[in-house]
Amino acid sequence: MKVAYVSAEVVPYAKTGGLADVAGSLPKALEKLGCEVKIFMPKYLSIDESKFGLHYNWTIGEIPIRINGVSRYVHLHQATLPGSNVEVNFIDCPHYFNRGRIYTNDMDEDERFILFSKGVIELLQRFGWAPDVINCNDWQSALIPLFIKDNYNWDRMFDHTSTVLTIHNIGYQGRFSQSTLFSAEIRGDLYYPGGPVEFENSVSFMKAGIVFADLINTVSNKYSHEILTEEFGAGLHHTLNSRRQDVYGILNGVDYDEWNPETDKYLPYKYSMKDLSGKIKNKKFLMDHFRLPFNPDVPLIGMVSRVVSQKGFDILVSVINDLLKLDAQWILLGSGEDNYEKIFRNLSYSHPYKFASYIGFNNELSHLIEAGADIFLMPSRYEPCGLNQIYSLKYGTVPVVRKTGGLADTVKDWDEENHYGFDHGNGFSFYDYTGFALYKSVERAVNTFKHKDIWRKIQLNGMKLDFSWKKSAEKYLELYKLAKEKRG
Ligand code: ADP
Ligand code: GLC
Repeated sequence: MKVAYVSAEVVPYAKTGGLADVAGSLPKALEKLGCEVKIFMPKYLSIDESKFGLHYNWTIGEIPIRINGVSRYVHLHQATLPGSNVEVNFIDCPHYFNRGRIYTNDMDEDERFILFSKGVIELLQRFGWAPDVINCNDWQSALIPLFIKDNYNWDRMFDHTSTVLTIHNIGYQGRFSQSTLFSAEIRGDLYYPGGPVEFENSVSFMKAGIVFADLINTVSNKYSHEILTEEFGAGLHHTLNSRRQDVYGILNGVDYDEWNPETDKYLPYKYSMKDLSGKIKNKKFLMDHFRLPFNPDVPLIGMVSRVVSQKGFDILVSVINDLLKLDAQWILLGSGEDNYEKIFRNLSYSHPYKFASYIGFNNELSHLIEAGADIFLMPSRYEPCGLNQIYSLKYGTVPVVRKTGGLADTVKDWDEENHYGFDHGNGFSFYDYTGFALYKSVERAVNTFKHKDIWRKIQLNGMKLDFSWKKSAEKYLELYKLAKEKRG
């Protein structure tokens, strides 16, 4: 099976969230199953060419791609994904990608990813490599199915190339004004109220992907059902329902080469299920760093997250004063919306012994928090999969989550599971999206922490689980086969 895997972010080169983790690890697992995989991503300014061993491809040279009526020149850098033979193709166009950030609010944000998507197709042509499937991810590459079926359908090379759109978050749709049609050279007759590329008077990349992809999947089973509803579909539930036979859910795996307390290169003290003594040493190390007074009997609650409303920060903030009265301490790592960043900065000043925060992005620190915290909080309003709760389970850091999407598929509530036996409960969860429900489940976790034996059991129930990619990659392979059959 020949797979072109297209993503706007890929670990270790560029990351803002979980998409990068998935794009940096699923291709490796697919390769192990015998697939030939090529990754495509933009070459952002922040990607260090010498650090990652990128080399310029002289044979390909410069490819002109017309965007918004202007020919932009694209060239190619290549590297091999660490720990695999997967080829990574970096689409370079300094005009669009030499910016301070991966995603921008610039006027030409649409053009940046139109160029990226067309660049993928034009490179496949130059390679003379027709994949069996192009796996697009989120809105940034969601126009590819339309391009393959329309703009490039003259090229017989793609007659048997199928497309799969993986939706990591339906909340981000890539919506732009009508002028995008011209920039992307999308036929005007595809744009009309309720039409394949129109959504609420704008051009929607995500909608186009849903309409034109051969198959669609999301990153957990639960979320694949949720997005069909008005509550979670972010306006696209009708479109998704019209394709409901083609919508699948495959839970993300995680890369245990990167996220394993026995081998994690960022941890000063390694530990395992058999010997958890390193965990508390990491806790002390972490707390010393933040100048929080260390007390082994007081649980440390960790959060690592984009600080945006999706992640439940509105309900968290609504009860933060009550939460801070609990006998627990807090460390938060995150960046995102200004108002939340400000609130957390202020809490670090007003509660220096209870609450610490690091506002920014810091990969190394995210590993240390996973290892050093006792409890990991993810009160998301919705969560397509969520990776941090899965990392937490492996690190013996008991997750407290809202029961939605991938959080519901991975975290089993200790108290609920108790009725069925002691071997499953691995965390705490709540259903109502309210500050009160959140508070109650954090309180349950904090109280349970006092009972050392029970706590150890909950930790071990999580640590013994295996969310490595193998099983999920097999499901992707099945999905690709189906997509290929569908395309004919
Ligand atoms: P999402 O993709 O919606 O942000 P996920 O839970 O799937 O949520 O993945 C988030 C990923 O980004 C995790 O690997 C997490 O450790 C990482 N992450 C989020 N915020 C930060 C941050 N401020 N610093 C370092 N890593 C972060
Ligand atoms: C998105 C989702 C997150 C998911 C990640 C990787 O960013 O918000 O839940 O884990 O993609 O699929």
